Amino acid sequence: MLDVILVGFMGAGKTTVGQVLATNYQRPHIDLDDEIITLVGQSIPQIFAQAGETIFRQWETQALQQALAKKGVLSAGGGVVETAANRAMLKQTHIPVIYLKVLPETVLSRLKGDTTRPLLQQGPAAVRALWQRRLALYEQVATHAIVTDTLTPEAISQQIYQLL
Ligand code: S3P
Repeated sequence: MLDVILVGFMGAGKTTVGQVLATNYQRPHIDLDDEIITLVGQSIPQIFAQAGETIFRQWETQALQQALAKKGVLSAGGGVVETAANRAMLKQTHIPVIYLKVLPETVLSRLKGDTTRPLLQQGPAAVRALWQRRLALYEQVATHAIVTDTLTPEAISQQIYQLL
């Protein structure tokens, strides 16, 4: 039995590691971005372009609330810590919150050419500033942290299993 929440910056491997964990330990996998897409009926870039980030964050809070009522491995979006209500929910839950740490240079190289993440389109300097600003927010909600830059999803998954 493995119920866990994965948080961390874009490109940290939350979705991939979540899928590996769910497969290896036979748990359902919930990807928060997918939940939002289903809830709204639009892609993430469409939501950002048409409704804007503030509205996206409101959908994200609703999706998180619903996801926390379910069991399994939850891969959150990188910006889940932006909203105070989300941070409060993550701090209050009894489910372990694993912070997958990644350096901004790793993010920029892993996600080079990515067009699915609106906040990456603002260029490297903005991504580094966002990363810097969010550091403390991930630390606030996490019960455990793993530095992921040089690890494979399998190795990260094993570390998480050993931590819990
Ligand atoms: C975001 C991260 C994305 C997605 C949206 C906003 C963020 O999820 O929720 O583009 O604010 O960091 P991933 O971390 O899964 O890429």
